[in-house]
Amino acid sequence: MTDQAQRPEDEIPGKPTSASRTTLSHIMTGSDTNLLGTVHGGVIMKLVDDAAGAVAGRHSGGPAVTASMDEMVFLEPVRVGDLVHVKAQVNWTGRSSMEVGVRVLAERWNESTPATQVGSAYLVFAAVDADGKPRPVPPVVPETERDQRRYQEAQIRRTHRLARRRAIRELREKRAAEGMED
Ligand SMILES: CC(C)(COP(=O)(O)OP(=O)(O)OC[C@H]1O[C@@H](n2cnc3c(N)ncnc32)[C@H](O)[C@@H]1OP(=O)(O)O)[C@@H](O)C(=O)NCCC(=O)NCCS
Repeated sequence: MTDQAQRPEDEIPGKPTSASRTTLSHIMTGSDTNLLGTVHGGVIMKLVDDAAGAVAGRHSGGPAVTASMDEMVFLEPVRVGDLVHVKAQVNWTGRSSMEVGVRVLAERWNESTPATQVGSAYLVFAAVDADGKPRPVPPVVPETERDQRRYQEAQIRRTHRLARRRAIRELREKRAAEGMED
């Protein structure tokens, strides 16, 4: 189900969520730290983008580029030696875009506790052709109740992203028309 009408002859067969779900694991080292000695947020963001990009590429069967990243949340610090797992899946698909949800977990190197969730993010990827132009993606087929919930939540985020972009564009156009900014 997408928010754009497609002709039946254009339809691409759906792909289940599990077909592209991916986990990227990485041990944090001394070169990943910030001035406080914990892991730099940008290092985690890179891993998030990498895992989400792998998922988007797998789902769409070709190149996909990051269009946006939002709601990146850091819940707990990550430390040197921690084994970080970045779990990503396609939550929702449009015509050429996909929302990928990512959860970041850390296994503490010096504790025998289960992996702790340390972050999460939502990214939108656009599948592109050889000229960098958007190309259609297979609709994602949610398989579980959790996948269904994530699909519905992603639709809400999509609606809000579009509404926010439209409202800001309209405000800028209005201010420009009134000569309020150069
Ligand atoms: C993303 C990109 C391909 C979109 O191209 P475009 O000409 O604006 O194409 P469209 O407006 O048709 O957008 C394509 C899809 O992406 C979505 N999209 C585009 N910009 C978006 C944004 N900022 N946030 C969320 N979705 C976005 C559109 O809603 C559309 O989705 P749909 O086809 O499922 O309805 C283009 O802006 C681009 O190449 N950006 C650079 C990407 C990049 O290099 N990323 C790595 C950063 S180094």
